[in-house]
Amino acid sequence: MQFIISRYNPQIDKIPYDQTFELDNTQISTDSMLLDALHLLREQDPSLAYRSSCQEGVCGSDGMNVNGRNRLSCITPLSDLPQKIVIKPMPGLPIIKDLIIDMELFYQQYQGVDPFLQSEPLDLQHEHLQSPEDRAKLDGSYECILCGCCTTSCPSFWWNPDQFAGPAALLAAHRFVIDSRDIQHVDRLKNLDSPTQIFRCRHIQNCTDACPKGLNPSRAIQELKSIMVKEI
Ligand code: FES
Repeated sequence: MQFIISRYNPQIDKIPYDQTFELDNTQISTDSMLLDALHLLREQDPSLAYRSSCQEGVCGSDGMNVNGRNRLSCITPLSDLPQKIVIKPMPGLPIIKDLIIDMELFYQQYQGVDPFLQSEPLDLQHEHLQSPEDRAKLDGSYECILCGCCTTSCPSFWWNPDQFAGPAALLAAHRFVIDSRDIQHVDRLKNLDSPTQIFRCRHIQNCTDACPKGLNPSRAIQELKSIMVKEI
């Protein structure tokens, strides 16, 4: 298999360049993931930089652009990829080194939607109770692992990363707007009601295509718009 990997060390390089690596098929098993291949390639060149941690699709640290699509390398089977694999950092955010990007703006946007429950407990001795039906409404919104695959595949975020929250943050906003226990949903909606916020989304749907957890940020944003029309 051939791997063409974008390399960039800001201390040495003016711009990113591609480096070609090869792996013999005998080095790869049928259940190998792309991250396994990267570990082998780093044995060839220890200067190759990428993030990974859990290696199970849970921590969200190893998002990268693989043959034009954002993916988590640890849950991308090599058997799903062609013999020639082009790997680049996820687009739209500054590159720190090789495949590692600076996620600061992504986290700022997430923080900006107040991604925590704002509620009034009935009393301090009990949990915030919720009916099974209301809890079920959160399915598909709460499972996000903040890998950034959706937001960094979104052209609206590329154009206005400092203003537009992006799909991951808006999915989190949706999760709390529809939570039956949250008392701030009107204020949450008002904060998103602007041409540079929720209405910057053009429903290009790259986000939904890129999500490695099978979530649908595009649909969540459409639902937010519908709720906004009714409630504010
Ligand atoms: Fe944690 Fe891939 S290494 S999600």
